[in-house]
Amino acid sequence: MTPLAALLDLLAPQVPQAPGSAASTRRALAAVGPLPPRPRLADLGCGQGASALVLAGDTGGEVLALDALPEMVHATQSRAEAAGLKTLRAVVGDMAAPPIPPGSLDLLWSEGAAYAIGFEHALEVWRPLLKPGGAIALTELCWRVSEPPPQAAAFWSAAYPAMQHADACQRAFEAAGFRLLDRFFLPEEDWAAYYTPIATRLPAFRDTHADDPVAIGVADEMAAEIEAWRCDGEAWGYLFLIGRRADRP
Ligand SMILES: C[S@@+](CC[C@H](N)C(=O)[O-])C[C@H]1O[C@@H](n2cnc3c(N)ncnc32)[C@H](O)[C@@H]1O
Repeated sequence: MTPLAALLDLLAPQVPQAPGSAASTRRALAAVGPLPPRPRLADLGCGQGASALVLAGDTGGEVLALDALPEMVHATQSRAEAAGLKTLRAVVGDMAAPPIPPGSLDLLWSEGAAYAIGFEHALEVWRPLLKPGGAIALTELCWRVSEPPPQAAAFWSAAYPAMQHADACQRAFEAAGFRLLDRFFLPEEDWAAYYTPIATRLPAFRDTHADDPVAIGVADEMAAEIEAWRCDGEAWGYLFLIGRRADRP
């Protein structure tokens, strides 16, 4: 089993594939403000469609939900059909080169995924996809403190070396050509809702994959991440950045 397959197996039973919730998605959507009638949206790195379904339902817009993994795309499309959301289309694709015409989006969304192609790189690639004044909302894992606790710093310097302070993320966001409308950290309950079911499943996952060192390695990494969160979780968070495409000076 590859590490990715093991991680997918561990996460499969739950829809959010990263910390987040419908309530947080709606809070960010409210911060975007008014959208035109029948807006065009994209959710990049959509996973099983946790946010894409909320966006399609709440805006009535045409939502392109994109993910690199066919199983995620299939899950998103099936869930949208089951919910009667006819304006959502899920496609397999690379969010570093999405099949979206430049200047066509009213709103670009991405939760827990931009890091996979590099936060700054994502901002650079995604800005031209927006109409002038079009909106963007994305989350990025950030430090909340200027001096992270040593254990947490050691854990994340290995797990996500590019992690930066929230203020640095905001500066990068603005330097990339976005005007900030709002920013907030995902609340504690979003983290608990993500980690608690995973922690509950870990013992059975270890039993099932006892003979597979790769899967056990993935379980160990996840257990270490959950432990880091339990010990020092207040030192970092997922920052929601909401803004609009600004004209460059
Ligand atoms: C942590 S999950 C978050 C999924 C979803 N946004 C959510 O909040 O539940 C990150 C997702 O990004 C996708 N992903 C990673 N790299 C990608 C790429 N280059 N292009 C498209 N999707 C990618 C992964 O397959 C995965 O589904």
